[in-house]
Amino acid sequence: MPKKIYIFDTTLRDGEQSPGASLNTHEKLEIAKQLERLGVDAIEAGFPIASKGDFQAVRTIAQNVRKPVIVALARAVKQDIDRAWEAIQYAAKPRIHTFIATSDIHMKYKLKMEPEEVLKRAVEMVSYAKTLCDDVEFSPEDGTRTRPEFLYKILEVVIDAGATVLNIPDTVGYAMPDEFGALIRGIRENVAGIENVILSVHCHNDLGLAVANSLAAIQNGAQQVECTVNGLGERAGNAAMEEIVMALKTRSDLFDYYTDIVTEQIYRTSTMVSHLTGMHIQANKAIVGSNAFAHESGIHQHGILSNRQTYEIMTPESIGLKQSQMVLGKHSGRHAFEERLKELGFSNLTQDEINVAFERFKDLADKKKYVMDKDIEALINEKVLKVPETYELEYFHISSGNTLVATSTVKISCDKGVYEEAACGDGPVDATFKAIDRAIGVEVKLEDYYLRAVTSGKDALGEVTVKISKNGDIYIGRGLSTDIIEASAKAYINAINKMILAQNGKNGNQI
Ligand code: KIV
Ligand code: ZN
Repeated sequence: MPKKIYIFDTTLRDGEQSPGASLNTHEKLEIAKQLERLGVDAIEAGFPIASKGDFQAVRTIAQNVRKPVIVALARAVKQDIDRAWEAIQYAAKPRIHTFIATSDIHMKYKLKMEPEEVLKRAVEMVSYAKTLCDDVEFSPEDGTRTRPEFLYKILEVVIDAGATVLNIPDTVGYAMPDEFGALIRGIRENVAGIENVILSVHCHNDLGLAVANSLAAIQNGAQQVECTVNGLGERAGNAAMEEIVMALKTRSDLFDYYTDIVTEQIYRTSTMVSHLTGMHIQANKAIVGSNAFAHESGIHQHGILSNRQTYEIMTPESIGLKQSQMVLGKHSGRHAFEERLKELGFSNLTQDEINVAFERFKDLADKKKYVMDKDIEALINEKVLKVPETYELEYFHISSGNTLVATSTVKISCDKGVYEEAACGDGPVDATFKAIDRAIGVEVKLEDYYLRAVTSGKDALGEVTVKISKNGDIYIGRGLSTDIIEASAKAYINAINKMILAQNGKNGNQI
């Protein structure tokens, strides 16, 4: 009888700690709803003590996403635990996740605490969390560099204090698969009461082994894996959810385990997370990279045409990637468009959202002969990003060339009126961004600019992602157009609108 492996998704907490990945409450809620459709068992929604924005996002998710367990992170500190509980108390299934470092190096240099004090604090804080919430997870941070006897000891005492889930983090991504598997087996064999709790693992990817380590842990008795979509996370990231899930499914001949993940939702989830965080997926990334199911060489193509299994160990359909690139055009009607949306996995859209999407599709079909699936996905993802538009681009005009100084004129509207400004710059994008700064009267730093073509072809939609910063906070904006200067201007204004929204306190800033 296959055993269930619980999927604990920490994209919104550890994933969002990636440098440059920053999400507002609205975006986190969209991702949490998608994670629910994906079928994850638990969502770590954030670290409520870290900032007002994090607190608000965790609380909003706890109130609106009812199927998975909603987890809030807290150091083993009373104020953290109180704040975590405040954020998740109305969740259908709340869990407090508290942690303290247990390796000699962390206890000595970071915590400046003796091991006995760490043990005492862990017991006190798990007991305290238990007075608030039935479900309490405990993590000994830097678990893989902790002396095993000390690890066993602390796990035993927190079980006695009421912990329901024990999570072993490879915080610095140091472990090797055999070694990590042996550690998990050692815990199973040496910790009294371990059979009464869920044993979990949390692997970082510094040596590229996070997924291998998670699988080794499963084979040695771990029942929960903590992971992120696209392997997002601090430094080299966390174990990639889609890789663990598809490894278990594809090699079910080796692994007698299953997950409740609806694998057909993987591609959609991955795309959404990538769009909203502005963290692009490398083309050769396993499972969700754009080349993951592409067959370039003649020999491979020949094999695939005879029998897909010659070079394909799983189908693109199994992760929700549709093979057919059905083309729509300006004569396609609303019915065909709606059907295509459903086939692409966008069955949760409201009627208003479909109306907006259809209008955008018609605009695009006027400019572009064939509208492909990827165009439609980009249009919908842009809609998800929508924040209240304080400022909107009315028009822009550029003059540029290899012998001219680029100049740009923009007209921007808001409810207070219309502003028109011009500026020169190093190229048309720079000139346009400077003209927008002048028109709106803001000063922000451009941290990153990324342009990609959504499909191939000279009339492809250009998708621009910009990251801007103000006072250390990062805001990500996206813009879509067949004209790349227009896409750039829209992305830049979108990022500024998000900044204004955060500053108005409707959405808090990120840590
Ligand atoms: O990597 C880590 O140790 C963590 C803990 C908070 C679980 O993220
Ligand atoms: Zn971590």
